[in-house]
Amino acid sequence: MSDLDALKTEFLSAIAAASSLADLDAIRVDALGKKGRISGLLKQLGGMDPDARKQMGQDLNILKTEIAEAITTRQIVLADEAMAEKLASETVDVSMPSRPQRNGYLHPLSRTIEEISAIFADMGFTIAEGPDIEADYYNFTALNIPPEHPARQEHDTFYLQPDETGARPVLRTHTSPVQVRTMEANEPPIRIIVPGRTFRSDHDATHSPMFHQCEGLVIGPNIHMGHLKAVLIDFCRIFFGVDDLPVRFRPSYFPFTEPSAEVDIGCSREGGGLKIGAGDDWLEILGSGMVNPKVLENCGYDPEKVQGFAFGMGVERLAMLKYGIPDLRTFYDSDMRWLRHYGFVPSDVPALHTGLTG
Ligand code: DAH
Repeated sequence: MSDLDALKTEFLSAIAAASSLADLDAIRVDALGKKGRISGLLKQLGGMDPDARKQMGQDLNILKTEIAEAITTRQIVLADEAMAEKLASETVDVSMPSRPQRNGYLHPLSRTIEEISAIFADMGFTIAEGPDIEADYYNFTALNIPPEHPARQEHDTFYLQPDETGARPVLRTHTSPVQVRTMEANEPPIRIIVPGRTFRSDHDATHSPMFHQCEGLVIGPNIHMGHLKAVLIDFCRIFFGVDDLPVRFRPSYFPFTEPSAEVDIGCSREGGGLKIGAGDDWLEILGSGMVNPKVLENCGYDPEKVQGFAFGMGVERLAMLKYGIPDLRTFYDSDMRWLRHYGFVPSDVPALHTGLTG
């Protein structure tokens, strides 16, 4: 047996016997490493006569390739064995408690808007939207609030810089402009609600410069005050979960409705606490009325052919009353402790797509 054959046999049997990847790597270094034995032999080639060098060079290269292949093959086997052993020894303890995960909470305003939407969805209303930055025309004029009308003063409007025509856009002071936008873009019949952001320059425990309203609009032939009353009585009773909740319609004034009515619900304020549905006191919760014929005309409708009713409610106010939240400013403080207290765990929230009654 030549020296090279003996060397080959030695390495191959060492490779076959290697029982770990570390052992195998030691063999690789010994055979093929820079200072390894095959490299050593390659270095000696320079001192040999040309014929012998050629033969030896070829033989050494073949040996080198064989050893490298044997190492790679053994490496795969050993890696598989190591993985199998690891899998066998490391079992998953399914009884171990999982790491605590912080749940997010649904903001009470989101929840309230969902509830309002679900109730009106059950009555066949769809949701409409409009821009936060509104033209003066939609926010006021089309709603029968012309430039010198006193109602403009009551709205504490945020005005933006005038545009090139000199008109000053506003941050919408109510969701009512979406009534006009919807009527302009659609033929009757119309049955929409408009939950959305509104803005007024006002800030105290019951007012915030940004707040939310939900508008409602129903237009069709022969719509009358009876429809308005039925829809709003049903809404109040379902929203507050009191079947026989007293609901009162009190004459009022809004430029865009005629006649107008404010809606009160029965409550008691005895002992400092507010109780909805009990006692003989009243609490104002929303504005409403029959759409003023002037508004219908502004939108291109013929008041002789179609009539309608509208209503508007403050979402924060409804949320405060239903969930006993005393200060409106806290809605926007982004305080996690507050949200954990007043918020809703999303998985606890019932599916609202069939309404609160469904
Ligand atoms: N836009 C009124 C406000 O912000 C609320 C309102 C009252 C809306 C009566 C209506 C309505 O649609 O009919 O105070």
